[in-house]
Amino acid sequence: MKFLKLSSTLLLATLSLSGSSCSKKQESGIPVGQFASLTGGQATFGQSTDKGVQLALEEINGSGGVLGQPIRMITKDNQSKPGETSTVVRELITRDKVVALIGEVASGRSLEAAPIAQRSGIPMISPASTNEKVTETGDHIFRVCFIDPFQGTVCAKFAGKLAAQKAAIITDVSKDYSLGLAKSFKAEFLKNGGVITGEQSYSGGDKDFSAQLTAIKSANPDVVFLPAYYTEAPLIIRQARQLGITAPFIGGDGWDSTELISVGGSAVEGCYFSNHFSNQSTDPQVVAFVDAYRKKYHEDPDAMVALGYDSLKLLADAMKRAGTTDPDKVNAAIAATKDFPGITGKITLDEHRNPTKSAVMLQVKNGKFAYVETIAP
Ligand code: PHE
Repeated sequence: MKFLKLSSTLLLATLSLSGSSCSKKQESGIPVGQFASLTGGQATFGQSTDKGVQLALEEINGSGGVLGQPIRMITKDNQSKPGETSTVVRELITRDKVVALIGEVASGRSLEAAPIAQRSGIPMISPASTNEKVTETGDHIFRVCFIDPFQGTVCAKFAGKLAAQKAAIITDVSKDYSLGLAKSFKAEFLKNGGVITGEQSYSGGDKDFSAQLTAIKSANPDVVFLPAYYTEAPLIIRQARQLGITAPFIGGDGWDSTELISVGGSAVEGCYFSNHFSNQSTDPQVVAFVDAYRKKYHEDPDAMVALGYDSLKLLADAMKRAGTTDPDKVNAAIAATKDFPGITGKITLDEHRNPTKSAVMLQVKNGKFAYVETIAP
């Protein structure tokens, strides 16, 4: 009996040992973490980024990986929920032992993750967070996109091109992104001699904007600047049209989702927004990327796809230059990135860990995002 018990314990021990060595084997490769809103309110942000990351991963690992090893992406969903990002980022760092992090799209969620990455000494590359404060968190926080002090300027200059003298602004006070973008738009629009006729606000998740829009209607602006996410922008514009506001709306990159059109319908026709990338570009590198993406996913890539792709490619390049996956050395190599040929433009990181890149202006035309122009920094 005793012998039997012992042997079964041994058997169990052997089984669990072989189990762990088996899972070790499956877990080979360089662990890189991604945190993204794959579900929840802003699911298209995270899904798009992840599709771009997966395409880059396929290409990197398909051509031999990095330093003789494949990259192993570990992707965690924060469900678009505040508070959830810190949980998944801690897991990625302490349990999965990732050597670098990619995320997030929304500035608010990048701001949640950044102090954790910084304290842990793990480099973090945000694909798409444009709020200035994100990379100010510390020397381990990078991004591959332009920042909102630039993006707001782009939108204000564009409003000037539409001969707008009076602009109204509607801000989402629950988002650092919206607050920052509103501020830089306003400063530039005033600097160019424009007048701000009305400043209204709402909070992410609101559904009824009639009070704000009634006030805006009576101010009679030439344009309305709406630094919102796609989750509210089409609702606001639809309600504006119902109230008889005919002025064009201008937004920022947060509008970038096919849901802007599926929800906004004809109300959003003719509106403009700034973005990081146009999938209509004729640049050969972009054309090849768009083709590869269409082949894999049977749809057109948005800006977050391109930025997610650029983030992982840039990280892989930095690891190669570092010659090691040691987070400190990788961090230094990312910081030294110069003229990296991204799909969204050439990326050189400055001393604040931000690139200087052009923006594109897109217009909603016949239910599609049509390229209008490129605005250089
Ligand atoms: N720039 C936005 C933010 O910081 C996120 C975003 C980027 C949304 C690109 C769409 C496209 O919150």
